[in-house]
Amino acid sequence: MSFTRVSILSSALMLTLSTTSVHSEERSSLSPYVNKKGEITLPVDFRMNMAHLGSWFVPEGAASGFHDVYTNQQGITSYRKDKVFEDGTIIIKELRADTKGNYTTGAGVHYSTESVKQWFVMIKDSKGHFPDNKNWGNGWGWALFKTENPTKNVSTDYKVDCLGCHAPAAKNDWIYTEGYPTLSNW
Ligand code: HEC
Repeated sequence: MSFTRVSILSSALMLTLSTTSVHSEERSSLSPYVNKKGEITLPVDFRMNMAHLGSWFVPEGAASGFHDVYTNQQGITSYRKDKVFEDGTIIIKELRADTKGNYTTGAGVHYSTESVKQWFVMIKDSKGHFPDNKNWGNGWGWALFKTENPTKNVSTDYKVDCLGCHAPAAKNDWIYTEGYPTLSNW
């Protein structure tokens, strides 16, 4: 690999790393992915730095494909200990298109492709740090990022965009915990 190629690659890497969290002077005390106004950033390095909680497979419709869910260390440690998500826990759900093929394990094996559909993010905040921000409430910050611009949360009001669909999981702090074997202590 030529020197120019290496330097282009390393500047691309630095650019990626610099967008992984909010700049420290603007950062809220709650999370590196939240600024003082309560704006939420998608951590772009989550597949490498966070744990895979579990996956859902949606067979049809607009949300079809794999829903891969990740959390930070804090989320797993606090839930395993007391069955609660500590403040600062971040949960990311990545939607990926699926395809299928015949493999030595069987026929019609489904697997996810490189095509990401969108990302949903929740950040735990039991103290209600951002009472005037409509992306915060019911103990969480709520955000939605589209692939066209992964730096912009396109959700404007979690009560309209998110809460109704999470009502069946209200008793589990709005999280569908039954899909996350990584949270159990085995
Ligand atoms: C159409 C219903 C629907 C809407 C709208 C919706 N969710 Fe969800 N969400 C679900 C379901 C069901 C699951 C778990 C199963 C799955 O993914 O199929 C889930 C899972 C998640 C997860 C993984 C953690 C968990 O709760 O299990 C996150 C994070 C998430 N949603 C965030 C959001 C955010 C933020 C919004 C709003 C911007 C939102 N969701 C809107 C139905 C919905």
